[in-house]
Amino acid sequence: MTAGPEGSRITPLFEATAIARRVTELAEEVTERIEGDFVVVGLLKGSFVFVADLVRALDAKGVTPRIEFLRLSSYGLAKESAGEVHLIGDIPTDIAGQRILLVDDIVDTGRSLAYARALMEQRGIGPLWTCALIDKPSRREVEIAADFVGFTVGNVFIAGYGIDYAEQYRHLPYIGAVE
Ligand code: IMP
Ligand code: MG
Repeated sequence: MTAGPEGSRITPLFEATAIARRVTELAEEVTERIEGDFVVVGLLKGSFVFVADLVRALDAKGVTPRIEFLRLSSYGLAKESAGEVHLIGDIPTDIAGQRILLVDDIVDTGRSLAYARALMEQRGIGPLWTCALIDKPSRREVEIAADFVGFTVGNVFIAGYGIDYAEQYRHLPYIGAVE
């Protein structure tokens, strides 16, 4: 356990080795389903570690995607989302016709991924797939299912491996439950 903001505690849920194994499998699933070139579009900030590992796992399979990032508004310092998604940072506009793999850390209510997908689809892109390291299906408020999912969890607040609680814990190599 690690002490965090305001006495919060984090208990390991997915160790670094388990995450690495699953990321390798995800890269395999992606290469089996997506044929040809595609662009990885990561959602910041939460997906930065996942994207970094996923693209290297893809490289090991001979896949060399272009990499872009979208930045959406965050939770702020709370554990509950404000319910509204805003675009803070956009990708370059020259992605028309490209095949897109949208990558996020967590699908919770589904709002962020749905927003990002709609935004990409306004740009005349080719086919789009979605990938989330963590899925929380019991929390869904918008109907959306990621095409590729690393781990499914219940209604637990997690952090680590790029994912934060009040901007803490992103640096952890593992994912834990915040109490
Ligand atoms: P959604 O829009 O409600 O699906 O929320 C997605 C975003 O909320 C994720 O990309 C995370 O940044 C954040 N989020 C959702 N659940 C958690 C959690 O358990 N820990 C930290 N961030 C979370
Ligand atoms: Mg996020």
